[in-house]
Amino acid sequence: MIWCFLLIFTIASIVGSTDLDELCSGNTCRLSDLDTRLQFSAKTAPRIDTLSLGFCSDFRVLELTPNLEYLNLINCSRDFNFDALNTMSQLKLLRIRDSRLSELHHDQFAKMPALEALCLNGNAIEGMVNGTFAQLQELVTLELSDNSIKFLSKSVFYPLMKLESLDLSNNKITSITADTFSRNVQLNLLRLNGNPLTNLIFPSDLPKFRLDFLDLSDCTQLKNLQLSVEVNTLVLDNCGVERLRSNKSIQRLRAAESKLTHVDLHGAQLDGVFLSEILCDLQTLEWLDLSNTSIETSHVSGSNFNHRRCPLLNIRFLNLSRNQIDSLPSESPLFGPSLIILDLSHNKLESISMEPTKSHNLQSLRLEGNNLTSFYYRYFYDWHRNLKELAFYDNKFGSSFNNEIVEYFSLKHVHVIQKDNQARDTPKPLH
Ligand SMILES: *[C@@H]1O[C@H](CO)[C@@H](O)[C@H](O)[C@H]1NC(C)=O
Ligand SMILES: *[C@@H]1O[C@H](CO)[C@@H](O)[C@H](O)[C@H]1NC(C)=O
Ligand SMILES: *[C@@H]1O[C@H](CO)[C@@H](O)[C@H](O)[C@H]1NC(C)=O
Ligand SMILES: *[C@@H]1O[C@H](CO)[C@@H](O)[C@H](O)[C@H]1NC(C)=O
Ligand SMILES: *[C@@H]1O[C@H](CO)[C@@H](O)[C@H](O)[C@H]1NC(C)=O
Ligand SMILES: *[C@@H]1O[C@H](CO)[C@@H](O)[C@H](O)[C@H]1NC(C)=O
Repeated sequence: MIWCFLLIFTIASIVGSTDLDELCSGNTCRLSDLDTRLQFSAKTAPRIDTLSLGFCSDFRVLELTPNLEYLNLINCSRDFNFDALNTMSQLKLLRIRDSRLSELHHDQFAKMPALEALCLNGNAIEGMVNGTFAQLQELVTLELSDNSIKFLSKSVFYPLMKLESLDLSNNKITSITADTFSRNVQLNLLRLNGNPLTNLIFPSDLPKFRLDFLDLSDCTQLKNLQLSVEVNTLVLDNCGVERLRSNKSIQRLRAAESKLTHVDLHGAQLDGVFLSEILCDLQTLEWLDLSNTSIETSHVSGSNFNHRRCPLLNIRFLNLSRNQIDSLPSESPLFGPSLIILDLSHNKLESISMEPTKSHNLQSLRLEGNNLTSFYYRYFYDWHRNLKELAFYDNKFGSSFNNEIVEYFSLKHVHVIQKDNQARDTPKPLH
């Protein structure tokens, strides 16, 4: 390689100039900073569509590549002349990485309307103004990782209607508001990992907005996460989030070093979701609301959790109300030793043959609005001596059997919640 280079260099010195066409074979060309010494002839190299430059001091070579589509620049200094690139209207990919690019101004890419991918990773970008990317109607991929971006102005990604993939990882962003992505209807891959985010809100007026992949790893400042968009894979590795609320489905949740204690998915559509894929990393989980999520018996059954370690030993509160559960799989890791409050109301339970020996600390059980015809209540109480309140109205028991159960639990000082004095809107906290 060096010999070859020296040879060319020598020939160039003798002849006076080199044809770029001869220096680069095929359609790809790579020039190192040593090549700045070359004198190129005026002969253009129309074959070349891909060019990597190890220097940014002299862009005259770009005049020789009229059909360039992919341009890579590395190690550019702070003061390199970015505007000199503004002649390439057919460019599809521009990558300037590990350089000192610090400012992007209004209409910065106005002369490159064909860009489909813009990768500016590893620069020193601090801010981008409204309108920086405005003309990039074809842009699909935008990478801005490893910069110093602090603030995203309201319309910085406006309109970018075709944007699918956005990498903002390892910056200094603290806030994402509902306006930030309000026009990016195609966005499906979003990396925000490694930012000091404290606030993250997605647009709620885009019905089709859904993310395939959302990475919030190492966002250690983020404590509360509220999602109102469907997310296929959510990554919260080493993330600060303690409370997660989502009313749209999540298919997979990865959370190494999880700090999540509260997960509230009530109202999300979870049919077709494997609960093990969203819960098994959450070893610190204490409070879980899966009410009104369309889940069935098979979702909660132990066999769905068998294929991986799922130590959900800290769940104290579990709400499975308003689902399609018809029997209780006691071997499920959801019914663990810490369980104190269990709401199974408004399901399709026909019997409650529950021997969850693991959940012997249960204090509150809601069974109203099911399809129960029998209840081995003495047996049940033998297993659950800590029970303090119980609701079982609106089932299929005859009234005499109903009275029998009420009487039994009264003697045991278990509060039986009746339909009329239901205080369901303000459930009293149990400890
Ligand atoms: C970029 O610069 C760094 C530091 O000067 C150097 O180590 C690296 O090899 C350079 N990369 C290229 C591709 O020239
Ligand atoms: C940003 O640009 C958009 C579109 O051109 C415009 O509607 C909006 O008012 C601008 N916002 C600011 C803060 O300049
Ligand atoms: C989900 O939550 C968002 C934000 O709280 C709300 O605007 C939206 O209406 C909710 N969607 C559903 C289906 O409940
Ligand atoms: C259940 O969730 C759906 C959205 O999936 C919502 O429209 C409905 O109002 C919820 N019902 C109750 C009783 O919360
Ligand atoms: C469980 O969820 C339902 C519906 O979302 C709610 O009405 C009920 O109060 C919750 N149960 C408890 C014990 O909080
Ligand atoms: C309740 O159980 C009966 C049989 O015992 C069954 O015919 C009926 O469909 C069940 N209802 C519900 C809502 O599951």
